[in-house]
Amino acid sequence: VAVIETEGYFGPARFEAEVFDCHFTGAIPKDLDGAFFRMHAASLYPPKFADDTILAADGYISMFRIQGGHVDYRGRYVRTQRMLNQKESRRQLYGYYRNPYTDDPEVRDVDHPHLRTTANTTAMVLAGKLYANKEDGLPHELDPNSLETIGPTDFNGDWQSQTFTAHPKRDPVTGETFVMGYEAHGLASDDVHVGSFDREGALNWVVRFKVPYPSLLHDMIITEDYVVIPGGGTVTSRDRLEAGKIHWGWDGTLPFYYAVVPRGGENDDIRWFYSSQRGVVHTANGWNEGRRIFLDMPMADGNVWPWFEDLQGAPFEPIINSLRRVTLDLDDPGEHVDERVIIPTPISHFTRIDERRLGRKHRYVWVNYADPEQTFTGTPGPGPEPTGSILRVDMADGSTKSFSVGSAHVCQEPIFVPRSAHAPEGDGFVLATAHNLDAMRAELVILDAMEMVELARVILPFRNPEQVHGTWAEAAELPFR
Ligand SMILES: [Fe+2]
Repeated sequence: VAVIETEGYFGPARFEAEVFDCHFTGAIPKDLDGAFFRMHAASLYPPKFADDTILAADGYISMFRIQGGHVDYRGRYVRTQRMLNQKESRRQLYGYYRNPYTDDPEVRDVDHPHLRTTANTTAMVLAGKLYANKEDGLPHELDPNSLETIGPTDFNGDWQSQTFTAHPKRDPVTGETFVMGYEAHGLASDDVHVGSFDREGALNWVVRFKVPYPSLLHDMIITEDYVVIPGGGTVTSRDRLEAGKIHWGWDGTLPFYYAVVPRGGENDDIRWFYSSQRGVVHTANGWNEGRRIFLDMPMADGNVWPWFEDLQGAPFEPIINSLRRVTLDLDDPGEHVDERVIIPTPISHFTRIDERRLGRKHRYVWVNYADPEQTFTGTPGPGPEPTGSILRVDMADGSTKSFSVGSAHVCQEPIFVPRSAHAPEGDGFVLATAHNLDAMRAELVILDAMEMVELARVILPFRNPEQVHGTWAEAAELPFR
């Protein structure tokens, strides 16, 4: 079981920073004008329980503001109520991941579990505003220049789930942003809300339904006509939480499920597909051709969460994700799930695409991974595999191209930024940061996305906490000063 480090590269730093005109090598492409936001899991204090998950770590946001061939950096903790409470008492007050029963009595509140969110997963840009999201609570609005926390929001009372996804999906054609909240009505609740916001940020659709059993619903997929939510394997219950355990266990005997929700549809329109148990954390993309739905995602055959005990007592096996394509046919009365491996190369689950293809058939996927041809020379961190390389996959023919960030580097999720709004799919840049474990510092690499060669590397003179997801915002999307 991977535990959270309390010293070394990933130990608590309680460090906020601003770097004017960052040092870099190479040349920063002049076509880049925007900000690369990253959310980090940055424990303010070591966890109360050594076997807790890093998913419970406090939220920290950083920004590389890139403009005119130069880069400025800023990093700040998100001022959640939880962060402020810890700062006030100068110690850890919170127990296991998503289990308020294990919190210190002065902050324990089992009826409002969303108030203990750490807002550590994804930066969301919605209708000209910036938010920090985590799936166990509401988004926290942030100032896009100072990164100061404005506070949590339920969108003027319109969003009625206690929770809000860390993986919203913006339709590049309609401009709508699709979201969900699960455990919507409190701890271990089987209620899910799915909805969409229009370009102006007004909620224009919500549907509420129940899942076959409450499970960790981390990511979602949109197509032109559907929202698809994969889930299963992870299980929880009030009994489990009252017994003082980490929120999730793993039960491989239950079916894996897919909720297929027609966009704009109602509760009765939802269809369910089931398969044997799968490990799914993130998705790459999906699309539909009529009533056939295609889902590309990294998948494993079992538990992908090292911190969640197997309820049947099976030991945790190393995670082997392969990039697979799942087809769901709404006209198939047997509701069969067709699943094929596209490339067998073991990859992480941080797949990203050219998001101008979101919901439509895409050609390219980028993902960080541990290239078996590269030797890792650093001290491994708390992650499952030292992912020192980035892979580009061409889904048209299964060919791949790899880039190694460095032998002592652990590379995080790569994002794609187009060269211009009208550039062909894949013509642009890959941005990814890496922990340089030897030099104890964070580095940002900028690659040509098709050639997979390095154009520039930004060197920060300090380490960054473990990154979760990255988000690119074009200059016009936020009111940058
Ligand atoms: Fe995620």
